[in-house]
Amino acid sequence: MANEAKVTRVNLAHRSYDIQIGSGNLTEFVPFLRERTKSNHAVIITDTTVDTLYADKLGDQLADDQWEVHLLVVDAGERSKCSEVAADLWETMLAEGTDRQSIVVAIGGGVVGDLAGFVAATFTRGLSFFQVPTTLLAQVDSSVGGKVGINLPGAKNMVGAFWQPLGVLVDVEVLNTLPDREYRAGLAEVVKYGVILDADFFAYLEQQTEAINNRDAETLRYVVERCCQLKAGVVEKDERELTGLRAVLNYGHTYAHAFEAAGKYEALLHGEAVSIGMMCAARLAARMGRVDNQFASRQQALLEALGLPIATPNHDGNDLVALMRHDKKVDEGKLRFVLPDRMGHVELVKDVRTDDVLASLIAE
Ligand code: NAD
Ligand code: GLY
Repeated sequence: MANEAKVTRVNLAHRSYDIQIGSGNLTEFVPFLRERTKSNHAVIITDTTVDTLYADKLGDQLADDQWEVHLLVVDAGERSKCSEVAADLWETMLAEGTDRQSIVVAIGGGVVGDLAGFVAATFTRGLSFFQVPTTLLAQVDSSVGGKVGINLPGAKNMVGAFWQPLGVLVDVEVLNTLPDREYRAGLAEVVKYGVILDADFFAYLEQQTEAINNRDAETLRYVVERCCQLKAGVVEKDERELTGLRAVLNYGHTYAHAFEAAGKYEALLHGEAVSIGMMCAARLAARMGRVDNQFASRQQALLEALGLPIATPNHDGNDLVALMRHDKKVDEGKLRFVLPDRMGHVELVKDVRTDDVLASLIAE
């Protein structure tokens, strides 16, 4: 291991778990599992890309340690996060003798993590599971906090559960094989944490854009660790998104979901849509007198330095607002937005005027 891995603990009473974050620490995979489970049967769920890159080898390491291993591979891409693929996985697991002593290991990006976590949460009413996230988005966001689920046609993440893993093993070295666009999309969520929770972290990111763009391992290890700490802090206080606190993680997301839906989930990656959505949210906050215009300029400069898009896609504004009204955060038909009042602090703001939302879509 190039550098000592660090551990971030997610404190959730008997559902507490460790996130081990390092560089080159996939070598710790077997002991990481062994320290946390007595099981000897692992169902590894991965996708076609990550299988050949990492999952196949990790499965071999477990088999060498006398585990019974079943490796289930789904097609790479969002389309696999659906009821048909989940049902195929349940059937295969049943046929292969999976029982309550078995564990599920998700090795892949957010699609694999959400799908495998959902299958784990539901098979025999709940199997223990581990996450080995391999995209930046999964390392800083989707593998932490226990939201698992699948999409319905036309309704993203509509069926799911809160099901915490037994542990999360993060190796930032795997990010070296990630395509540039996917890597940058993950950076949008990284910037989000600075804006919503930690002004010092935002300033750190501003200073480290070159190292981040070069995927410097030690910088990334710290970046992922800080994001996981910040997300863990929110999840510990509002695991099931009941108080509104966890909703702060959705900064920029009301806009982003509308942009993604308007582009039929093909034009923009989620992180790209979040980057543009954060710009709209910053402009909305400025219109409502919550921040000055310099706030949006500062956020824009960082997003652009990290190679992220900031221009609103060319859709009719009223169509976008209609799509926003389908967002899970809508409260009795009223639009709600997570908006900053200073760097490192946001609030859930209710009853925002449609005129202001329409105006915020356009940069002046
Ligand atoms: P993804 O899982 O589709 O991965 C993106 C692509 O990168 C895939 O083609 C994958 O095969 C490939 N890939 C993964 N790791 C790689 C590696 N190391 N090297 C090369 N290629 C690699 O996409 P994603 O962006 O990781 O996740 C998106 C999903 O996450 C969405 O479904 C979203 O809803 C979900 N999500 C969930 C939460 C949550 O809290 N549960 C939070 C945010 C997003
Ligand atoms: N990604 C938002 C959440 O985990 O709540």
